[in-house]
Amino acid sequence: MPTVDITALKQTFTELYGRDPHGVWAAPGRVNLIGEHTDYQGGFVMPFALPHATYAVAARRDDGVIRVHSANNGETHQAEVAALHPQSVQGWPAYVLGMFWSLKQTGYEVSGADLVIETAVPQGAGLSSSAALECSTGLAVAELNGHDVAPLTLAQIAQRAENDFVGMPCGLMDQMIAMLGREGHVVQFDNRSLEADIVPFNAEGAQILVVDTKAPHRLVDGEYAARHQQCQQAAELLGIGQLRELNDPGAPTLSDVLTRLEDEVLRKRVRHQVTENQRVLETGQALAAGDLVTAGELMSASHASLRDDYEVTVPEVDLAQETLVEAGAYGARITGGGFGGCVIALVRTGDTDRLAAAVQDAYAQAGYTEPGPFVAVPSAGARRIE
Ligand code: GLA
Repeated sequence: MPTVDITALKQTFTELYGRDPHGVWAAPGRVNLIGEHTDYQGGFVMPFALPHATYAVAARRDDGVIRVHSANNGETHQAEVAALHPQSVQGWPAYVLGMFWSLKQTGYEVSGADLVIETAVPQGAGLSSSAALECSTGLAVAELNGHDVAPLTLAQIAQRAENDFVGMPCGLMDQMIAMLGREGHVVQFDNRSLEADIVPFNAEGAQILVVDTKAPHRLVDGEYAARHQQCQQAAELLGIGQLRELNDPGAPTLSDVLTRLEDEVLRKRVRHQVTENQRVLETGQALAAGDLVTAGELMSASHASLRDDYEVTVPEVDLAQETLVEAGAYGARITGGGFGGCVIALVRTGDTDRLAAAVQDAYAQAGYTEPGPFVAVPSAGARRIE
């Protein structure tokens, strides 16, 4: 697993800015066990935080200037707190500057800062490197300015940075898990009530194998926004606020709902939303009962729904998923926003190397780029390191 050398990072800070940092903060990437594309419709999700994190070494400045250096690509960016405005910055600095902007918009007074950032979260792999960057920066900036911001509030501030400053209409899942992740635990989260159930990852004798398909992300932002919009359109046609309401007690049956929609694409999107929310709840029950067979089946059913109804998979992703299931995983599915990225599988401990090799073979035969498999252990959320 790629790690970050904190001592070297602090040294870079001192060399670059000619002073010592005031602290070091970290926030993790994530995988989502199940509950995909449901967060922006008020639905259920069940992610856990990865050991891979983004680190922010930082010191406060009193002149309103922000300087941020990325140790990953060697770039440095400079801005002023007072001059920040939405969608004025491109690329990775937008996630950093967006946090200053969003904290301020939410009513927190923030000064400038010097920052050095380094991430061990694979980028563009659907493992939520954006939220890790936002939350590590956000925690650093909040603390440097003496603000004790509740974790879920900081997650919402980070979502606002991404929605409004960066311009990506994401839900709350990634920022939520970056803040609330806990070692050995998954978080079953209700995106409507914002209730977080932090439960032990009860998978005795099994592990989560992650396969980074390395498939190039295709049309990610545009397609994501399109899914978001289709859901909103379907909700409007059905006369409800969010599709999640279709999972409420007393809601009409799915087949009744589907007869009320003429558009086949909207019907498919709605079917995914309703069945996926149901699968999250059933996965929670299966894991609580230690029933890995059912949990695995639900994961594979989620994949089929994301492939056929939500249409966010690509051939590389489908091949990894099928290969993992055929080779003996309890179940497997795409994780994250889709159009590339990672597949996760629930796998018997001891089977991980064999299954990873099976995907490697299948990829070699198909002529795909070699995938990057690793075992993921539920890890800690955002925190101050030093
Ligand atoms: C991205 C978004 C999340 C969520 C997932 C799909 O990671 O940032 O809010 O919608 O896609 O589940």
